[in-house]
Amino acid sequence: QDTVLAELLASRIKDVPDYPKPGVLFKDIAPLLADAEAFGALTRALADRAAALGATKVVGLEARGFVLAAPAAVAAGLGFVPIRKKGKLPGEVFARSYDLEYGSATLEVQCDAFAPGERVLVVDDVLATGGTLGASLDLVREAGALLAGVVVLMELSFLPGRERLLPHLAGAPLEAL
Ligand code: PRP
Repeated sequence: QDTVLAELLASRIKDVPDYPKPGVLFKDIAPLLADAEAFGALTRALADRAAALGATKVVGLEARGFVLAAPAAVAAGLGFVPIRKKGKLPGEVFARSYDLEYGSATLEVQCDAFAPGERVLVVDDVLATGGTLGASLDLVREAGALLAGVVVLMELSFLPGRERLLPHLAGAPLEAL
């Protein structure tokens, strides 16, 4: 079942060489999102994971993570919480920075995003170096929620993203569909 899903999803992701810069192989999920069968199957798989993990909220990471997490939250009967790039969320926020190849980036979550005791499933499209997810998992905990698990569409397993994430996961499961 998981293999059938993985093959369907993989068949709808397009490799784009040298984008956004020379030497980078970009994984374009636009064909997957445009295909009702594949997008539906992905949404149901994410919603199933949310239910199995006992999640009470689904968190998506800007921007492509939003597109995957929001319909999954609705399908699971749960609310959605965004983790956004710096300066986009009103009110009090928690912020975490992480290193990029050149410079750094900052992600934020609203301080009142979670009620006490909430269990969170974090969803994103790609796990590459793990910087984005690492900062996001720290934010979820800082905002007082419990991390139920992480599901990504793709894991670039030739990069040490999973290894970098381990201390941030603190025992929570990480699955790549
Ligand atoms: C991409 C991708 C992940 C992140 C993974 O986001 O959507 O969130 O990079 O990379 P990492 O594991 O090395 O941190 P990007 O910042 O390009 O944003 P987008 O979704 O807004 O296009």
